[in-house]
Amino acid sequence: MAVPGVGLLTRLNLCARRRTRVQRPIVRLLSCPGTVAKDLRRDEQPSGSVETGFEDKIPKRRFSEMQNERREQAQRTVLIHCPEKISENKFLKYLSQFGPINNHFFYESFGLYAVVEFCQKESIGSLQNGTHTPSTAMETAIPFRSRFFNLKLKNQTSERSRVRSSNQLPRSNKQLFELLCYAESIDDQLNTLLKEFQLTEENTKLRYLTCSLIEDMAAAYFPDCIVRPFGSSVNTFGKLGCDLDMFLDLDETRNLSAHKISGNFLMEFQVKNVPSERIATQKILSVLGECLDHFGPGCVGVQKILNARCPLVRFSHQASGFQCDLTTNNRIALTSSELLYIYGALDSRVRALVFSVRCWARAHSLTSSIPGAWITNFSLTMMVIFFLQRRSPPILPTLDSLKTLADAEDKCVIEGNNCTFVRDLSRIKPSQNTETLELLLKEFFEYFGNFAFDKNSINIRQNPFETSLNISKNVSQSQLQKFVDLARESAWILQQEDTDRPSISSNRPWGLVSLLLPSAPNRKSFTKKKSNKFAIETVKNLLESLKGNRTENFTKTSGKRTISTQT
Ligand code: GTP
Ligand code: MG
Repeated sequence: MAVPGVGLLTRLNLCARRRTRVQRPIVRLLSCPGTVAKDLRRDEQPSGSVETGFEDKIPKRRFSEMQNERREQAQRTVLIHCPEKISENKFLKYLSQFGPINNHFFYESFGLYAVVEFCQKESIGSLQNGTHTPSTAMETAIPFRSRFFNLKLKNQTSERSRVRSSNQLPRSNKQLFELLCYAESIDDQLNTLLKEFQLTEENTKLRYLTCSLIEDMAAAYFPDCIVRPFGSSVNTFGKLGCDLDMFLDLDETRNLSAHKISGNFLMEFQVKNVPSERIATQKILSVLGECLDHFGPGCVGVQKILNARCPLVRFSHQASGFQCDLTTNNRIALTSSELLYIYGALDSRVRALVFSVRCWARAHSLTSSIPGAWITNFSLTMMVIFFLQRRSPPILPTLDSLKTLADAEDKCVIEGNNCTFVRDLSRIKPSQNTETLELLLKEFFEYFGNFAFDKNSINIRQNPFETSLNISKNVSQSQLQKFVDLARESAWILQQEDTDRPSISSNRPWGLVSLLLPSAPNRKSFTKKKSNKFAIETVKNLLESLKGNRTENFTKTSGKRTISTQT
């Protein structure tokens, strides 16, 4: 997401009407009649979206319960490409003949689509039986029955209108900046950013549905497989527009927990063997890649990236607009998603801070959708978690303390890595820390940008379970230097604002907006002021610590202390 320059914002004359220091709930602010903010208001999310809502609401459900419930919903759901204009009532009446409908919504993505959830799974069979394969004179359709349909009007003149469709992408930067400038405080800005960018209920449903559609295809080969979403689609840190990471779970097919049957015999399936797990993964993904490419409705640009450390099939699911990564041998990433889900749920400040840091990094091209020498969102999230664990009192518990709260049911070892931690959120005590988001943001930048590197170095490896893997080892020296410089600049900008808040009539962007703009006027003067010598030393030390792979707290690295927690 590229962020427009400062000129665009100042032309809007927004900041003249910016906040007072009086704290008011953002909902009230957005309801003020006649304000731009009102026009920009997003529709309230429907109930049921609370598990990732920005309100201070700790989800009651375990990650696995939430995943199972959503998967079951998705299995009762169909995706329909609709004519541009349609009578919603007639559409629902038509579909109701196949069975009662639980809920539905429309969205636009190169055309109008409807997501329709039936009350019963059986209704889908009836709908499929009433559907035919199209034929054209020029091309031949490969017959394929899925839960992705195309709806056509028999009678072109029948009554129809534009239906209300839900947004699947964040609003424009211009609109976002307007909203942020209207916020009451930096805390409000961070919460507004979160509310604007977090996945909506509809978007989450669409992600589970897409996994379910891919699962149908994989089931042709592995009837008991499960395609599970992981990563930011489910760990509560997903931004609208983020990719969809999918994990093909073959544990049921492997039937590891097969019922013991009494008698003198043991029955095994006849199978083919290959020399390693990696080769098995490559073969499975290769076949699925072909299948998606040849038969998958709406699956385009299929790439088989089988020689990567974690082999995957990448493709675009056109109808949902998601860039999908399908993997099969990284169960540990699913567990990392569960851990992040817990961290995101424990305190409402966590997600607000992570979203802002992610947006800040994106605005300054520290992260990129193209793989390369950049830091990733996953690493940034780990850095925020690490930082919050080190507050006094801590805002987040360490992974070690989550381990001590675990019971027998939580015990989990994956490929020799201990992934045990408490899954029941109600057993984790809330933090006593009351620091504001404004303070935390400033301190985050200070912590990672102005750390006393002459005495200490930071170990930001932070790979929770595979402790020998450095999740940031791809980051180049120049990218790291850029990160450190920008963090220090941002801390400086926030500090300046403390003493020299832009006046109401100054027309200047403020708070978070100043941090998101790529060429804030005060940046240059800052860069000049700071000597490069210190930055070079900083980067050298930070690189050194990135390469380390020790996990003890306060270990000595080249005569300097390495500070780490085991998250
Ligand atoms: P965005 O897609 O950028 O929104 O965030 P994401 O968290 O989904 O990151 P990404 O799609 O790059 O990776 C998906 C998941 O794979 C992450 O959430 C992690 O669970 C896992 N993952 C990504 N990178 C690494 C890594 O370097 N090491 C390990 N162990 N896991 C990783
Ligand atoms: Mg992802």
